[in-house]
Amino acid sequence: MKKYSLKINGETHKVSVDDDTPILWVLRDTIGLTGTKFGCGRGLCGTCTIHVDGEATRSCVTAIDNLEDGAKITTIEGLSKNTSHVLQKAWIEEEVPQCGYCQSGQIMTAASLLEKNNNPDDDDIDNAMKMNLCRCGTYQRIRKAIKKAAKEL
Ligand code: FES
Ligand code: FES
Repeated sequence: MKKYSLKINGETHKVSVDDDTPILWVLRDTIGLTGTKFGCGRGLCGTCTIHVDGEATRSCVTAIDNLEDGAKITTIEGLSKNTSHVLQKAWIEEEVPQCGYCQSGQIMTAASLLEKNNNPDDDDIDNAMKMNLCRCGTYQRIRKAIKKAAKEL
């Protein structure tokens, strides 16, 4: 076990876990932030996406010990801390989710895209989102919602 001090959604959390623990399990099991979901556990589906210093990051394959000191982590809960994020509003308006399981990862990847590009075209969206899988096939609605959110920025 090793001690870590993590900055998550603007708050400091002190945890004591094995150094090879994926940050996904620290978030879900140690801290209780269950908005980040477990899908494949192999970095392939994007369901577990969070932001580390603003970059979309797969939390299932990122060991806590690999985070830089002082790294800022944002989860889906932090995205809407004070007010609903424009993406979350667009997601609701476009009725994007079906089963919903992949959607927090989809939104986190989309948020990272909009941080870098506030007017993405179809190719930009497809490139950014192509490694976030949705078994319900909500891809067209995701694309529409990202464009709608971009207009609100
Ligand atoms: S659960 Fe992390 S990429 Fe699939
Ligand atoms: S909404 Fe069901 S897997 Fe994406």
